[in-house]
Order: sequence, then structure tokens, then C-alpha cells
Amino acid sequence: MKKLGIYVHIPFCRQKCKYCDFYSVKWNDESENKYIDAVINEINNYRDTLNEKYIVDTIYFGGGTPTVINPGNLRRILEKIRSVFEIDVHAEINMEANPNTLTEENLKVYKETGINRLSIGIQSLNDDILHKIGRIHNSREALEAIDRAKQFGFENINADVMFNIPDQTIADIETTLSKIIEKNVKHISFYSLKLEKGTPMYDMEKNRKIIMPKEDEEREMYYAGRNVMEDKNLFQYEISNFALKGYECKHNLKYWNQEEYIGIGPSAHSFLNDIRYSNPSDLNSYCLNSEANVFERKIHEVMDQKDLIFEYIMLRLRLTEGLNVVDFKNKFLVDFYEAYLKQIEYLINNKLLEYSGDFVKLTQTGMDISNFVFEKFMPQN
Ligand SMILES: C[S@@+](CC[C@H](N)C(=O)[O-])C[C@H]1O[C@@H](n2cnc3c(N)ncnc32)[C@H](O)[C@@H]1O
Ligand code: SF4
Repeated sequence: MKKLGIYVHIPFCRQKCKYCDFYSVKWNDESENKYIDAVINEINNYRDTLNEKYIVDTIYFGGGTPTVINPGNLRRILEKIRSVFEIDVHAEINMEANPNTLTEENLKVYKETGINRLSIGIQSLNDDILHKIGRIHNSREALEAIDRAKQFGFENINADVMFNIPDQTIADIETTLSKIIEKNVKHISFYSLKLEKGTPMYDMEKNRKIIMPKEDEEREMYYAGRNVMEDKNLFQYEISNFALKGYECKHNLKYWNQEEYIGIGPSAHSFLNDIRYSNPSDLNSYCLNSEANVFERKIHEVMDQKDLIFEYIMLRLRLTEGLNVVDFKNKFLVDFYEAYLKQIEYLINNKLLEYSGDFVKLTQTGMDISNFVFEKFMPQN
């Protein structure tokens, strides 16, 4: 049976952080209840329209902030998924969490319903920085949230940490990561702050109210963070992701391995039968349409062999393991070395790419300028 990942978007937050452009609106009880009914309808719609049998091996509640909604409603969604799909007994079931809403009451229900991975947004353990970027928690609350999750028996915990924040120092980053690692988390997503148009921080930078770190400072922060994590055996396995061996995020690996998943809820993306599509980012129309059993899905790409190959190369080279040329040949019936001889020679001579055994991978410099490397594999029309 084919494997499938399911992503469920929870488009609510208590308060919008100043840097974030993920689709979410301010939470309220009434919108939540309408939304849950709409999600249940979309899952039913997949039950009625998927024309193959799948086994679901990853479920990912993301957002927004899944921990703001009533935990009983998350249970309802999971029960619905379980009644519609066959779920692998070892499925990874992940929930993104904000420290302030990761309460004992919530944790108890998450444990009972089979959630087995928590991804907690810590961002930084410097209170000034947390305040400036608009977080609703302080550093003490962030660390307490990790302790609480562990008390309720969650051992597979990820912490999201951001760097490249104005006024952040290398010492801040090192202290933040060390304190988080002391809590024995198994995985850290280490994101470089990117200013997104339409966010308050984007405007603040345009109006010179904040100054972003320079490019070389950003790299210094990245190297410093990576050293702290690798010293403690949290190994980099993707450009922004570090984990103890065996704790890599299975759901995210699906994205990088070009495997199939469906996304439920506004702004959620899907990849099924070589088609990439997404739901519009509009909660009201999603709820109204769902009541009438209408699901507008915007098709981004019907991918042909050329697109699939290019995307696969980019995704695999983001992983530190790199691209396995035998898997590549089995998947596309194309010999990687023959097809890209010129590019590979150029990139190896410039120390951007290397190979060992069956794997071709980016060097550290290649990782730093990965977009330049990816361009070399772009299909010519
Ligand atoms: C959808 S949020 C989920 C976590 C939860 N909502 C919270 O914030 O506590 C996913 C993560 O993306 C990262 N993120 C969001 N916007 C970002 C940006 N503009 N640049 C870099 N990372 C960002 C943050 O680390 C955040 O924790
Ligand atoms: S970072 Fe998390 S809590 Fe903050 S606005 Fe984005 S989704 Fe909401």
C-alpha cells in the first residue's frame, strides 16, 4: 500500500509575532468550532475522492498554533483521520506548540490521543529579544514548557530556534542552544530570520527602526549555533535541522524525499500523483465552501519528469546525506553522473559539491550558497 503524510493546518494564534507570515488569524472560540467542522468535512471529502488505498505514516498539526485550540477538538480531528485512513502503528504524530499554551490539560489529552512528537517554538532565551519580536512568553516559561512536556511523557521534542535577529549576539545564540540542549531535546530547527513582506518587522527595517545583521554576521551566527549542537551530538541532517541520530522528523523528510502528502485547511499544501496544489489562505471562505462540500484547490504544478528531477535534486541536496545516485537511477531511469557531467565537474572543481560512495552532496561552502548550486541543475528549455 502507498504511504501518505497528512498535514493539518490550525490557522489560529493568540497574538501575531512581528516576523511571521504563516497564515493565521487571532483565535476565538466561535471561529474555532466552525473551523473544526470544516476540517472534518475536508477529511470526509478525501475519503470520498481518493482513488487509491493509503497507509498514513505521518500526521503533522502545524500552524498557526495548534495548542491554542481546545484539545478535545484536536482529538476529534485525529479520531476522524483514524476512522477514514489506515494509520501505521509506528506513525509519527506531531504537534507544533507555543510554550504559553502548552498547558497540563492540553498535554494530558495529547498523550491520550497518541501524539508522540512536540515541536515547541522557543525562538530565543533572551527576554529582550523575545519581547522585541512579539512573542507571548518569556525564557523561563519556554523552558518550563519543555519540562512540562517531559513530565507528561513526551520524549521526542523539537525546539524551534531563530538566529539573524537584530541585536542578537553569538553569545545569546550559544546560551540559548546550550540551555535547550541541557533539557535533552532530541531535535532543533535552527532558522535564519527572514523578513517577509507584510510583517511588522519588514516595515520596521524599511523605516530603519531595526537593522538586520550583515550577511557575514548571519553566517557567523549559523556556524556558532551549528558547533554548539554538533558538540552535543545533534547532527545537522538538513540546512536548518539538527537531530540526535534516529530522531530526524519523518514528516519533513517526506517533503525532502518528494513523497506524497495531503494538506487539510487554508494555506495547506499537498503533493499527490505528481501534482502540487494548495488550499487558498482564507479561513472564512474555507469554512463556507466546506459546508457546501466545495474545496477550491489551486494547482501549482502538474510536474513532468524534468520538473520532478530538478526538484528532487534540490530537495536531496538540502540534506547533508546528499543525493543517492542509485536511488536516483531507480526513480527516474537516468544516470545522474552522465546527465550532469559538466555541472558536476564544475561544482566539484569549485569545492561546492563532493561525492563519497553512492552519494553526491554539498560541501559547507555549497550549503552556504545552495541556490547558486541548484541553478546549475535547472532544466534548459
Ligand atoms: C508556524 S511556527 C510554529 C510554532 C508556534 N506557532 C510558535 O510560534 O510557537 C513555525 C516556526 O517557523 C519559524 N519562523 C516563522 N517565521 C519565520 C521567519 N520569518 N523567519 C525564520 N523563521 C520563521 C519560527 O521558528 C516558528 O517557530
Ligand atoms: S511564529 Fe507561531 S505563534 Fe508566532 S505568529 Fe507565527 S505561527 Fe503564530
